[in-house]
Parts: sequence; structure tokens; C-alpha cells
Amino acid sequence: MDYFNYKKNTLYAENVDLNVLAKKFKTPLYVYSKRTMAEHFNKINNAFSEMEKIICYSVKANSNIAILNEMRKLGSGFDIVSGGELYRALKIGADPSKIVYAGVGKTKEEIDYAIKSNILMFNVESINELKLINLEAKKFKKKVKVALRINPDVDALTHNYVTTGKKENKFGIDIVLAFNIFKSAKKMKNIDIKGIHMHIGSQITSVIPYIDAIKKISNFITDLKNQEIFIDYLNIGGGLGIIYNEENPATADEFAYAIKPYILNLNLKLILEPGRFIVGNAGILLTKVIYNKKGIKKNFLIVDAGMNDLIRPSLYGAYHKIIPVNLNKGKEVLYDVVGPICESGDFLGKDRHLPEVKEGDLLAIRSAGAYGFSMSSNYNSRLRAAEVLVDDDKYYLIREREKYEDLISYEKIVK
Ligand code: LLP
Repeated sequence: MDYFNYKKNTLYAENVDLNVLAKKFKTPLYVYSKRTMAEHFNKINNAFSEMEKIICYSVKANSNIAILNEMRKLGSGFDIVSGGELYRALKIGADPSKIVYAGVGKTKEEIDYAIKSNILMFNVESINELKLINLEAKKFKKKVKVALRINPDVDALTHNYVTTGKKENKFGIDIVLAFNIFKSAKKMKNIDIKGIHMHIGSQITSVIPYIDAIKKISNFITDLKNQEIFIDYLNIGGGLGIIYNEENPATADEFAYAIKPYILNLNLKLILEPGRFIVGNAGILLTKVIYNKKGIKKNFLIVDAGMNDLIRPSLYGAYHKIIPVNLNKGKEVLYDVVGPICESGDFLGKDRHLPEVKEGDLLAIRSAGAYGFSMSSNYNSRLRAAEVLVDDDKYYLIREREKYEDLISYEKIVK
């Protein structure tokens, strides 16, 4: 599943000893395995090998330009949701004809930037957005390609905050309203209606919600055809779940096997937007124990990574495995692994059994490659962590640790 394994009693990233990285780059430190990423990309690519498709890696999962560049080298396109993500993708030389742009709140400036960059298409989330794209496209004398994001009203059976395909969610166009919007889009002079997009949520472990959604969308495509509205692309979004603890998510092959019967006969080009599936298990957050604090009720390991570095446990109650970098034969102790931030919500793991841990010991927080660094912040004026990419026995610093000067570099005192 990944390349973070023990050799004798020491945890390695591929063939690099994590003690070496901690010593050289300090902690907290994000460490990514290139091989894990590439294997996961290939798993999805191979699962749909016989289909004409574009895999558009979802930039929000991990947007470091070194990671994006690895994706580009593997042949990936990009799923973006902001001007900033477009900037990153273009900076690493991404092929704009493999970039798709989703998001409910695209501004006029962002739309212009994407039109000028000749991206493959916009995934449009409302009629008003469609009208604005039409207007902007006219300004540039272009016909702009779009897909309409359909909200199929299915429950992805995942955390509420990352469920996006139910009718009470802000995303996409309600499937019952979509038909008329397609008709209006067809009449817009500067819009070229090319596809349908769906994205029903994230960390989805079952194939059933996908099947339900695709069935609805496939019926919808038939209705469109009957009205002489033809499209070229079906974009089924991202959302494939990974193993954090004891989940049993569908594999890429199982996923492909389950949905192909519903998509092959549509004869459309397929777009997939995986994020977590590719990078989730390809990253760990390396952290050092600052204090071992024994309370009356709890043993706390206070570590140098906090909710500003990895917010998933605090925000979603997400579970990340925590393991020692150096195994010892100490007896097991029950710990709460917590950060230094001034909030009780600042924890990385509660009630974890670990072989007795001492101050100065290193811990690895697993499965932190997706929505880890990309959701990090400077809360409590903490410096954002450094990031390292490991490739076999080589390693590269792909983002330096921030410095105190960085914290105030955009701020000004009023005289
Ligand atoms: N496509 C669209 C339109 C999306 O909104 C997303 C994620 C993806 C693709 C990629 O989804 P993935 O394959 O990574 O599940 N911060 C949350 C996850 C938020 C997902 C947002 N959208 C977390 O840490 O669990």
C-alpha cells in the first residue's frame, strides 16, 4: 500500500532512514514517497486502460509544485479550483488542454485567467456562472468549452463535510433543473457545451454511490441525446477512499469493474479527478515529542506538530495512524498525542497504544499526504513545516521551513 516500512527497528521512507531526514531538516516535516504516488496513479490509469480518458490529479489534495511536476511526468492532467491552483499548474508546465476547472465561486478575474490559458474546460456549477463565462468568452472572442456539474442527489456515505452530491449541498446543478440549463447553454454563442461533470464526495469507500449517481447521469445523457444535445466527455470526479485505519475501500480495479457497465456504452471520453487516492498514503508527517506529560486521567505526548500542520483530526475527527520511528521493546502505554496549540481541539490522535515514548522520540503520522500540508496554516504564528520528496535512496527538500520573517512579510504597521 505504501513505502513507509520498518527495516530492523527503524522506519524508512523507501530507502531513506527517517532519523536522517529529521536530523537534517528538523521537525515537523512532511515526507513523501515518489514510488507510492506513482504506483497509485498507475493503479487508476491501468484500471481504465481500455478507455479514452484523462486523469486530472486534484491539485487541492497536495499542491506542492514538485508533486504536481511528478504528476505531469506520469501523464496526469489537473483538476483545479482557483486561480492560484491554475498558476501552480502552469508554472510546472502542465498541458492546459488537460486542465479542468471546478468550484462554485469562480470570480471574473479567475475566469479570464483560465480562458486566456486555454484550459480544457470549466466545470460549471450554476446558471449565473455559465452566463458570466459566456460574457467573458465574448470579450476574448472565443468559444469556451464547458461541462455542467450535475448534482445527482446521492449520499456518498462519508463525512458530512466532504459529501458534495446531495441536493442540500452547494455543489453542482440539481439534476432536475439541469435539462433547461443545458438548453440555455446550447443557445449561448460563446459556450461550447462538451460534457457532464459529477463529484459526489471524498473518502468514499463503497462503489454503490458512484453507481447510483452514474445511472442517473446516464439516463440524463439519453434525455439530452433525444433533444439533439450531444456531449463528448463524462467527468466522474474524484473521491476514491484510502485506508487510514481499518477501512476497506474499493480498489481501483474494483471501482472500474463496478462502474464500467454503466459508462462504456455511453461512448464518451472519461475524466477522473483523484486526489487522496494518489497522494494520501504517499505522505507522512514526522514529528518529535517535546514533553511527556502525565495527568491524572491521561498521558499526553505533546509533539511539535499541531492542528495548524494537520487539521484533519480536529476538523473531521479523522483517524491517522501514529507509529514510532524507532521501535523499542518498551511496554505499551495509552497516550493522547497532542500539539502545542492553545485549543483542546488540537490533537493528532487520542487513546493510542504505543510502546513507551520518551521526550525527543520521533513519531510518524501516517496517511498525511493528502489534505495535510495543503490545509496547513500559520495559526498561533507557527511556521509551516518543510516538505521532502523521497525517491529510493535519494531525497529532495521541496519546500523550506518557513522563517519568522515570513510570518509578517505581508503586514504593515499603521504609523
Ligand atoms: N474533484 C472535485 C471537484 C473535488 O471537489 C475534489 C475534492 C476532488 C476532485 C478530489 O477528491 P479526492 O479524490 O481527493 O477525494 N479536506 C478534506 C477533503 C476535501 C475534498 C474536497 N474536494 C479531507 O481532508 O478529507
